[in-house]
Amino acid sequence: MEKQKHYARTLVTTALPYANGPVHIGHLAGVYVPADIYVRYLRLKGEDVLMIGGSDEHGVPITIKAQKEGVTPQDIVDRYHKIIKESMAGLGISFDVYGRTTSEMHRHTASDFFKKLYDKGEFIEKMSKQFYDEEANQWLADRYITGTCPHCGNDGAYGDQCEACGTSLNATDLINPRSAITGNVPVLKETKHWYMPLDKWEPRLRQWILEEHKEWKTNVYGQCKSWLDGGLQPRAVTRDLNWGIPVPIEGAEGKVLYVWFDAPIGYISNTKELRPDDWEKYWKSPDTRIIHFIGKDNIVFHCLIFPAMLMAEGSYQLAENVPANEFLNLEGDKISTSRNWAVWLNEYLEDFPGKQDVLRYVLTANAPETKDNDFTWKDFQDRNNNELVAILGNFVNRAIVLTNKYFDGVIPQAHELTSYDRDTIEEFKGVKDDLSQALDTFHFRAALAEAMKLARIGNKYLADTEPWKLAKTDMIRVETIMNIALQITANLAIAFEPFLPFSAEKLRKMINLDHADWNKLGSIDILKAGDRVEKPELLFEKIDDETIKIQTDRLERIKQENILKNFKPKAVAPTVAFDDFQKLDIRVGKVLACEKVKKADKLLKFTIDDGLKGRTIVSGIAKFYNPEDLVGKDVCFIANFAPRTLKGIESQGMILSAEDADGRLVVIGPHGEVRPGVQVG
Ligand code: MF3
Ligand code: ZN
Repeated sequence: MEKQKHYARTLVTTALPYANGPVHIGHLAGVYVPADIYVRYLRLKGEDVLMIGGSDEHGVPITIKAQKEGVTPQDIVDRYHKIIKESMAGLGISFDVYGRTTSEMHRHTASDFFKKLYDKGEFIEKMSKQFYDEEANQWLADRYITGTCPHCGNDGAYGDQCEACGTSLNATDLINPRSAITGNVPVLKETKHWYMPLDKWEPRLRQWILEEHKEWKTNVYGQCKSWLDGGLQPRAVTRDLNWGIPVPIEGAEGKVLYVWFDAPIGYISNTKELRPDDWEKYWKSPDTRIIHFIGKDNIVFHCLIFPAMLMAEGSYQLAENVPANEFLNLEGDKISTSRNWAVWLNEYLEDFPGKQDVLRYVLTANAPETKDNDFTWKDFQDRNNNELVAILGNFVNRAIVLTNKYFDGVIPQAHELTSYDRDTIEEFKGVKDDLSQALDTFHFRAALAEAMKLARIGNKYLADTEPWKLAKTDMIRVETIMNIALQITANLAIAFEPFLPFSAEKLRKMINLDHADWNKLGSIDILKAGDRVEKPELLFEKIDDETIKIQTDRLERIKQENILKNFKPKAVAPTVAFDDFQKLDIRVGKVLACEKVKKADKLLKFTIDDGLKGRTIVSGIAKFYNPEDLVGKDVCFIANFAPRTLKGIESQGMILSAEDADGRLVVIGPHGEVRPGVQVG
């Protein structure tokens, strides 16, 4: 089949975040920032494009959160939908619509969709055994079951998915299943559900992805291939839950649509909400290009299940591309809503007012496009200070300052060009094609690097031509140089608009360019000689160490809290008789001297006053103490331990210690005056 090359319009969908918490940098880097760059780019080119978003408000993540807080699921989604919607707008994510799956429009659309498939006979109806919590009197769908993943052994896997290895699961696959509500071992009970026979669609899915979309990102294509090669099974699309869209058929009381059935239909409902009269052309016309922006854990739903639903329905177009990203970690650890290990967008916007573009820049420069990546506050600071401030901000500032200084803000004319001028112009003309090419193929990191290249070219041009030196002798030459520098500035205002919309707008205002047009990129006559630029305004400012420390301290605190929360004392050892206890001779001693043992980085040598003739004890705590700090301290030690020789030193006993929350050993001693040699018991 010949591929359609020319599209009349593009529909961009972005994964609907669960409204069970605010969005964090992982969501942004994976989905919303790249999608926003892409639609801003298409808009700049004058294309017809819609960006569809919204909150995913059904499903177990929502009801579990509500149960934990003792409020209703509706309370939860109302709270987080508002936070998510406002913070996304705050970051300049330019949705054309940001809807919600609890809207009337969505309820009807999803319900009708199900009904249509049901009436067409597209579902299998069958009885199966599902987990049930008899104490809570509740069916245990999806995340209500936790247990050990049969693939990777992670013991916090959910009934629908293991987040550690990304495998999607059936609750009954889990080893050692437990109810997430009571912790009880669940029982199995018979219940009726409706299934999508994915096996029926397998040949068409294979053809569509493996044959017709070899150009998809390798991580996406590879995951689809491995699913398809493994063989697709029927999937239940209904659940026994009381939160969701009721299954619209008789005999299905108490059952709702599976959240992954209703949520992707949310893309359609939200398009309808936005364009009630002509939404269909965005979904059904073959000259529309549909692109789904998602994270890697959503691949199977967007590439196999949702497309199978659309095929079964019959009147919809399938996606042209699904540029899924990998995950972003935070300071080396996996981002987690439940562990509060994240940088939350709403908090970022409060802590860093006016710095939306810094976050957009860092998340794009470091986007997890081909592999998982790490966000660190140090990298955030470095990229701001060394790239945004030192390269982009510096060039723009120089161009505007010099124009004000030499020409009173009036854009000078270009006269005769030198060959160096012409080389520079050639070089930045080339950027347009490379930049467009990278954006067209969803390589946003590379695209941003291209845009930055323009700023580097500008910086180099001013540094090499040194107009500030020529100003005394050759004003004609300075006019040409500054004209070119300002044309580069105008190019930057266009090239950066998709990435850094706030700064691009500021910049446009500074040079009085009222409208950015992608087609002008690369040209040197964007600004007219004789027009004016405004007074300079800083686009970026340095971020100091203190500001960064506030953030890293916060993360450090959270890490500590998590350790405390997760600490479970070991089970108590078997009972011992008093006589057995008395066999151990534990005593108090005073540290007379303490020093590092040579050639052993773990060992400290103690000289202990034990009230007798004194003794030497070697202990493996050198990593946790400065020897001097222990001198004079009272410690507890086992006095009748058989002596051992460590690094040539005879150790006569053992100093007692315990691990603190950081895994560091802390020496144990009496809380009061006790004479050396006194027994503990
Ligand atoms: N809420 C899901 C998640 O956070 C994504 C839903 S995408 C949609 O993983 F297609 F279902 F909307
Ligand atoms: Zn696993």
